[in-house]
Amino acid sequence: MRVLLVVESHYGNTRKVADAVAEGLLPHDVILEDVWQAVPPTQVVDLLVVGGPTHAHGMSRAGTRRTAREDHPDGQEVHAGIREWLDRLPAVERRPAAAFDTRIARPRLLTGSASHGMSRRLRQRGYRLLDASESFLVEASEGPIAVGELERARAWGSRLAGLLAGR
Ligand SMILES: Cc1cc2nc3c(=O)[nH]c(=O)nc-3n(C[C@H](O)[C@H](O)[C@H](O)COP(=O)(O)O)c2cc1C
Repeated sequence: MRVLLVVESHYGNTRKVADAVAEGLLPHDVILEDVWQAVPPTQVVDLLVVGGPTHAHGMSRAGTRRTAREDHPDGQEVHAGIREWLDRLPAVERRPAAAFDTRIARPRLLTGSASHGMSRRLRQRGYRLLDASESFLVEASEGPIAVGELERARAWGSRLAGLLAGR
């Protein structure tokens, strides 16, 4: 089955998590695209997965992306994030999707979580969430990824693969 995984990452952490999720999704046919290059799927994909960092308790916006860039000029310049990509996503009827984010390793009440907004937007577009959204933790804004989180991301990818195969 064909999986499209679209990821936003400024400092590389969410991208590493996406790579681990993609590994878990094998042997499905996974296409992994950075959000600034990704176009909305024109061909039917069997599963759409979106992932991005938590910024200001939710998905990034132009202002938070600017701050990310100013704070760490070595980071990736991201002109449009998952929020804007989802805004352009054509509506479908009950197609499977899943969402994840990275966020700081603190209680979620303090950090917020971008994947909640992603899930809401996916549902609004007609997607059906295959699994609850997931957060993977980083120690600080620029990383590193917390111990064990890449393994958890791989396991979540495998879980999605199993859910997709079992439909
Ligand atoms: C402008 C900005 C705002 C942020 N706001 C939050 C936040 O509200 N909650 C949180 O958990 N992490 C926050 N973070 C930390 C990011 O979640 C972290 O940088 C991200 O997970 C790293 O992923 P990336 O390397 O893929 O960009 C923020 C980071 C930046 C740059």
